[in-house]
Amino acid sequence: MVINKSRLIQAASKAREGSVSPYSKFKVGAALLTKSGQIVTGANVESASYGLTCCAERVALFKALTGGKRDFAGVAVVARCDGGPMPCGACRQLLREYAPDAKVFVADSDDLEKIREFTVKGLLPDAFVFSSLKL
Ligand code: THU
Repeated sequence: MVINKSRLIQAASKAREGSVSPYSKFKVGAALLTKSGQIVTGANVESASYGLTCCAERVALFKALTGGKRDFAGVAVVARCDGGPMPCGACRQLLREYAPDAKVFVADSDDLEKIREFTVKGLLPDAFVFSSLKL
């Protein structure tokens, strides 16, 4: 499937405006693309109990999953960050479980034209996956 990565990055950039980040002031936006071409977005939400914060990628993923979406072709993440924001370990695990085929696009909000590209599988090799468990 051909992915319009600029469009996905634009959607993540727009979603970033919805960030609820009163503590870090670090706004992150994410946009997931389904294999059928739909886009679901999210932004980071922080808590005064800092550890309860949820990253933009997981907000977008949980929105998409609970909206019935399952098959994902890509995810874009945008923040004001050199080279673009790389998904944290927790987000990589969840993306690996629910969006294993997705490409990952990241961009600095100051330079949306410069898009770096990765894959979910490449960002979390030898992942903990349910199918490997001998239960
Ligand atoms: N954050 C994300 O939204 N995505 C990431 O991949 C890393 C970090 C958020 C969490 C927190 O609100 C802020 O960035 C600073 O860590």
